[in-house]
Parts: sequence; C-alpha cells; structure tokens
Amino acid sequence: MDNRRKIPVHVAIIMDGNGRWAKRRGLPRTVGHTQGARTVEQILEDADHMGIRYLTVYAFSTENWSRPDGEVKALMNLLRTYMKTSLAKCARNNVRIRVLGDKSRLDKDLQEAIANLERDTASNTGIGFQIAINYGSRDEIVRALRSAAAKVADGSMDPSEITESMISDNLDTHGIPDPDLLIRTGGEQRISNFLLWQTAYAELYFCDVAWPDFKKEDLEKAIDAYNHRERRYGGLIS
Ligand code: IPE
Ligand code: IPE
Ligand code: MG
Repeated sequence: MDNRRKIPVHVAIIMDGNGRWAKRRGLPRTVGHTQGARTVEQILEDADHMGIRYLTVYAFSTENWSRPDGEVKALMNLLRTYMKTSLAKCARNNVRIRVLGDKSRLDKDLQEAIANLERDTASNTGIGFQIAINYGSRDEIVRALRSAAAKVADGSMDPSEITESMISDNLDTHGIPDPDLLIRTGGEQRISNFLLWQTAYAELYFCDVAWPDFKKEDLEKAIDAYNHRERRYGGLIS
C-alpha cells in the first residue's frame, strides 16, 4: 500500500461468505465461522497497525436467529469463547471493546462476559473495536426512538429537541464517528440492515473474497479504492 494514502478513521465490515467458504471445501458451515473468527482477530491487529482508529464488524444480525438452531448455537458459542478469551489480548493491545445491538436476547453468561469486557477495556486508548451482535439497524433506531418518545411522554423533553445529533447520541454507536468506509466481503452487494443511519455518507466497497480468506492485503486494497473516491457530502469538490 502507498504510505501516503489517507487512512479512514472508522472502517465497518460486513463479514460475509463464511458458509460458502466452508461449502466449497466440503466442510460444515460452522467451520467457516470458526475460520472467520480467526480472521477477525488478525484484521483487528492489522487495522490497528495501519492506524485505523475504529473498526466495527457485523457478527450476528437480528435476522440471523432464523438460521438453523445448530448454526445459531455454534455462532453464539464462538462469540462466547471470543468474549471470554480476548480480554487479556485486548488489555495487552490497548483495545477498547463495545458490543452493538440488543444484548437482552443473549444468554445471561454472554451478557455478563460482554459487560466485563466493555467495563475492563473502557479506559483503553487504542483502537475502538465494535462488534455487532443481535444487531439490526432498524431495531437500533426503534430503540432510540422509544426512549425519546418516553421522555416526551413524561414531559422531560420537547419534540423540538429531537434532532439529528440527538438521534446519533441515542444509537449504540454514540460517541463514535460515522464510518468512512463500509466493506462487504463474500460477493453480495447489499447492506443487510447494518448501520443504516451511520453510513449515510460512507464510501461502499464490495469484494468477492470470502471473509475467512480476507487478509491485510485485501483491507489495503479497500483503502486504496477509498483513496480514489471523491467525497462530496452533497457539496462540490473545491
Ligand atoms: C457471515 O457468513 C457470517 C454470519 C452471517 C454470521 P454467512 O454465514 O452469511 O456465509 P454465507 O453468506 O452463507 O456464505
Ligand atoms: C449479514 O450477512 C449479517 C452478518 C454478516 C452478520 P447475512 O449473510 O446474514 O446477510 P444476507 O442474508 O445475505 O442479506
Ligand atoms: Mg451470508
């Protein structure tokens, strides 16, 4: 990668293609997820070294509950293992973790592991690593609006106080700058209910590489492509 390239502050990734990666090898889909979890660890390290300040990954959507029970269980177990074993690593690497999504539907022990991880890494000053679990952008917006509506109903807030920044401040990503670059691996070109509000002006990058095969070089390619985009935000380039 060209060293003069501008590094995006926040990169978000829809990690797709685990199942097809495994199928091509005649393996169960869950093997693809296990391999995908390894990719997450490596890419987090690479992103940190490249100077990316925030990395957000989509691990499990609100729609993914509709998958077969065995696959959902395997995914939850992978997340459980990840949450329980990554703490020491995050402490060592100064990573700050936040889980996006509605945690109330997750098993109690997983909720506890997440709470511990978030608490124990909260004051770390390195890369911010957001993992979306039981996350759906529409669900996130509904939750934010419900809490605003409750405040209006009890008289503690006036409807005129509902502004764009107020909504941003009530999303799971509060305090985190919007993604500059959204990558989807695995060949599909859609957003699948990920960060709809936050990606209003993100550059989109789709690649055919399946997530378990995604490497630092692929991330660099995405950043190179990002560097060739003209970001306009509705205005004109001077
Ligand atoms: C992405 O890979 C991981 C999750 C959605 C949990 P998939 O499991 O969607 O893999 P494909 O798209 O079926 O290949
Ligand atoms: C999006 O991938 C969700 C995650 C990567 C966690 P999916 O594979 O679930 O999305 P669709 O079903 O192809 O849109
Ligand atoms: Mg998929």
